[in-house]
Amino acid sequence: MTFSSIKKVVYQRTGLTFDAYRTMVLKENITQHMAALEMDDMKTYCHEIRHNKERFNDLVDGLTINESYFFREPYHLDILSQWMLPELLAGETKQEGISILSAGCSTGEEPCSIAMTLEQAHGPSILSSLNISGVDIDRTALSKARTGIYGKWKLRQISPATLSRYFDPVHGGRYVVKPKILKKIAYSHQNLLDAPQAKMFLSMDVIFYRNVSIYFDRSTRMKVFSHLDRMLKPGGYLVMGCAETLSHDAGQLSLVEVDGCFFYHKTATRASAHCDADGHTQGDHPCPKAPGFDPPPVTGKRGNRSTAISGTRVENSRHLYEKSLSLARQKEFDHALTLLEPMLKKKDAMVEKAWILRAGLLLQKGDTETATQSCQHLIGTNQHCAPAYLLLGMLAGMEHHPRECLKRFRKAIEIEPNNWLAHFLMFQTYQALGNKDKASGQASVVVRLLEKGQESHHGLDYFPFSFSRADILQLCRKQSP
Ligand SMILES: C[S@@+](CC[C@H](N)C(=O)[O-])C[C@H]1O[C@@H](n2cnc3c(N)ncnc32)[C@H](O)[C@@H]1O
Repeated sequence: MTFSSIKKVVYQRTGLTFDAYRTMVLKENITQHMAALEMDDMKTYCHEIRHNKERFNDLVDGLTINESYFFREPYHLDILSQWMLPELLAGETKQEGISILSAGCSTGEEPCSIAMTLEQAHGPSILSSLNISGVDIDRTALSKARTGIYGKWKLRQISPATLSRYFDPVHGGRYVVKPKILKKIAYSHQNLLDAPQAKMFLSMDVIFYRNVSIYFDRSTRMKVFSHLDRMLKPGGYLVMGCAETLSHDAGQLSLVEVDGCFFYHKTATRASAHCDADGHTQGDHPCPKAPGFDPPPVTGKRGNRSTAISGTRVENSRHLYEKSLSLARQKEFDHALTLLEPMLKKKDAMVEKAWILRAGLLLQKGDTETATQSCQHLIGTNQHCAPAYLLLGMLAGMEHHPRECLKRFRKAIEIEPNNWLAHFLMFQTYQALGNKDKASGQASVVVRLLEKGQESHHGLDYFPFSFSRADILQLCRKQSP
């Protein structure tokens, strides 16, 4: 009862929803926080969550999904630079500058990519005409954003020239954003579910709101959408993730298409019509229903690849593995790696899973060299280890070797033809290479596998992926022939 009360409070205040997997993450976070606070009564903790804002924020910080990377969905950045900005600059009268907001900015990759794209296309002087801000509910993510330090995985879409133009190397193979970009971005803590109060957020020219709504149910989506509408200046633009845009078309803002890319426009003359959480409007337009869109988590059917061996040794390993996985989900990567260490030398059914998890964690930390070594070790002991090929493909992507990426993903498919993730990653790689035919071919395989429930589990228990299964289906349906 008390657990459901906490879940309800979190949902009501943040919009975060909890499927079976996220419920597990919530439980793990609650246990961890209660232990840190030396509390053993869930009722007392629930009371704290309701009445102590700091405690509530501490819990929420561990529940968000912050997956982001530089130059994600780059066509949105191109539209901003080549289409929206010239128009906005031409209409600018009071020399206030152009205000751009990254709503749900996570660790800062999106607002930095916006500043870098505009600086690259319009020259350094454009920066003085821009006011760029990033807001997020997760204070830990915002602190990381403010440091401007990133590992290689976050930089996987960046060319070497862009890397040296906007980043300086720091310790441990990481990079820091150059001050001219970093100091342009103002970060603040803001819950998008709360009605916007600060004046600066009520006059936005462009809002990027991408890969955030995929975690919300319909009523939260409509509420946030309504707030964003209020935050936009007349004439302003709202850019959402590819799979999200069409599920929000509620008649409030006009849907615009340029070169196959959809976004919203707030026409200069229209009085705002705000939909409330139930889809009722306070303005002059009825609020048509957005399609039902409550995504289940991305989970495939689990294959039965590891042989079940009974006995305490495996039970201990399984326990350690689950604990390490749980730490990974709480973003405690170093702690998770330490816990895995004793499992790696064992010869039981969990050892392969431990090495796969290790490689995934190292990849997430940007330690590509050791992650690659872990994958090679896996292939050395089992040449049919599909997850190792998936991870090697992702690592090749980080090193800007798309051909190598394709080779690795192809190998994973050769081993498991129904590995939907391998097909999806092939689709993304072909898309990045501009090979539309091959990309749409892979997209249609993903659609077939997911629609018919024929997919096999990809074998990566830890894989921070910000698309839900429903989003992937919608995205691939749009791209398949
Ligand atoms: C997957 S990240 C997307 C980052 C970036 N927009 C991108 O597309 O790469 C989603 C972010 O939304 C944030 N978020 C979720 N619910 C929120 C809310 N109610 N208010 C503000 N931010 C929220 C999360 O903390 C997370 O950092």
